[in-house]
Amino acid sequence: MKAKAFKITDGVYWVGVIHWNSRTFHGYGIPGTTYNAYLVFGEEKTVLIDNTYTGLQNQLDARIEDAFAQEGKDIKIDVFVQNHSEMDHSTYLRETIDKYNPDAEIYASQNCINFLEAQYHNFGDLELNAVATGDEIDIGGRTLKFISAPMLHWPDSMFTFLAEDGILFSNDAFGQHVCHSKRLDSDYSMDYLLKEARKYYANLVTLGSPMLRMKLQELTDNGLLEQIKMIAPCHGQIWTNPGPIVEKYSEWGSGVCKDKITVIYDTMHHSTEKLAFQIAEGIMSEGVEVRMYFMQEDGPDDVITDILDSKAIALGAPTMMNKPFPRIGNMMYWLDCVNFKGTGSEKNALIFSSKGWGGGAVAKLQRDLEEAGFTVTDTLDVLFVPDEDVLAEAFEKGAELARSIKE
Ligand code: FEO
Repeated sequence: MKAKAFKITDGVYWVGVIHWNSRTFHGYGIPGTTYNAYLVFGEEKTVLIDNTYTGLQNQLDARIEDAFAQEGKDIKIDVFVQNHSEMDHSTYLRETIDKYNPDAEIYASQNCINFLEAQYHNFGDLELNAVATGDEIDIGGRTLKFISAPMLHWPDSMFTFLAEDGILFSNDAFGQHVCHSKRLDSDYSMDYLLKEARKYYANLVTLGSPMLRMKLQELTDNGLLEQIKMIAPCHGQIWTNPGPIVEKYSEWGSGVCKDKITVIYDTMHHSTEKLAFQIAEGIMSEGVEVRMYFMQEDGPDDVITDILDSKAIALGAPTMMNKPFPRIGNMMYWLDCVNFKGTGSEKNALIFSSKGWGGGAVAKLQRDLEEAGFTVTDTLDVLFVPDEDVLAEAFEKGAELARSIKE
C-alpha cells in the first residue's frame, strides 16, 4: 500500500497507523484511534520510536518508506526505541526489527524488556538494552534522553526526549483516542481535544496519578519541563502547544474538581429514576452542575470521565434480590479499577434506591463506594414508588449534597 509520512519538523516524521474502524479499547468506547510511531533522522543514525499492531503494519511500512524517500535516503533503521510494551504498540516490533535491521540497537526500560519476552517469547536472541532516567544516546547532532515513567500508564512506561528539538515522545501519557486525517492539535479545537484527553486520562491514567505528580515535579526540578516544545504521544494528536495539556494533567492528577455532581442510576419500573431526577433538581437548585447517566444506555467510560472532575456523585440502583441492579455492578467494577483515591480528591456520595421489601442495594453500594474511596454522606432507601413527600426528601438530599461540596 501507499501512505505518506507526516513531517513534524526537519528530520522528524510521524509514521504511525490510523485505525479508522476501532470502536473499543479494552472496553473504552472510541471513535477509532491512531498508533503513533515516529522516525527521527540523526546525522549518524535513524531511530524508530514505538510501533503498532500487526494487521495494520502495512501503513507503518509505507510511511517509513515515504519518510526515507522524503529525506532522500536508503531505508535503514539503526535504532529502535520502545517506550512501552502493550500490544497496540509492540505486536509488530519483532518483525519490524527483522525486516529493517536485525543488528540494530534496541532500547527500552527493563520492565519493557521483560514484558516483551513474556508476551511474545521471541526476543531472547536479541540484545535489548535497558535504559532509565539519566541514560541518553547520541544519534549525530541529536540526543535522545530516556525518562522512566512507571505507571504512566504501565510499570514499563518510558518517555523519550529529543533534546535539541524539545520533543517529548510520551507514549500513552498525554494521548487521546481520536481518529482524524490530520496530526496536530492545531488542526482541531483545543476544547475538543482536552475533552477527549480527559476521557483518556480518567479511564487509563487515573491509577497512576501519584506517579504523575512525582514525574511532573521531577521534570520541573530538573528543568526539562520548560524545554518541552512539543509532546508527541502514541495515540491521537501531537501537542505543538503543550501548555494546556500539561496544565490539565497537573489538575487531573492532583484531584482538582469542579462544583459538579455526577448522577448515575439504573431503574426497573421508574421509581429509582424519579429519585434521580428529583435529586438532580435539588442539586441544580444550589447552582451546581449536574451530569446525568442512565446505565441502560450510557457507558461506564463516560461516567468515569465525568466523575474525574466531580466533587460528588449520587448513585442510584433498584434493589433486585437483595442487591443492586446488576448494570450498576459493572460500573462499580470500573470505579474500583480506576481508583480515584490516588488523585487525592475527596468525593462525597449520596446513595439512593427503590426496594420492594427487604432492601440491600444501599448497604452493598455503601460498602463498595467506601472501598473505592468515596465518602458516603447520605442515603435514601425508598419502599416501592416514591410519593410526593419522598420526592421532596430526594430534592432536599440533592440540595444538601450540593451544599456539602460548596462548603
Ligand atoms: Fe496504547 Fe498502553 O498502550
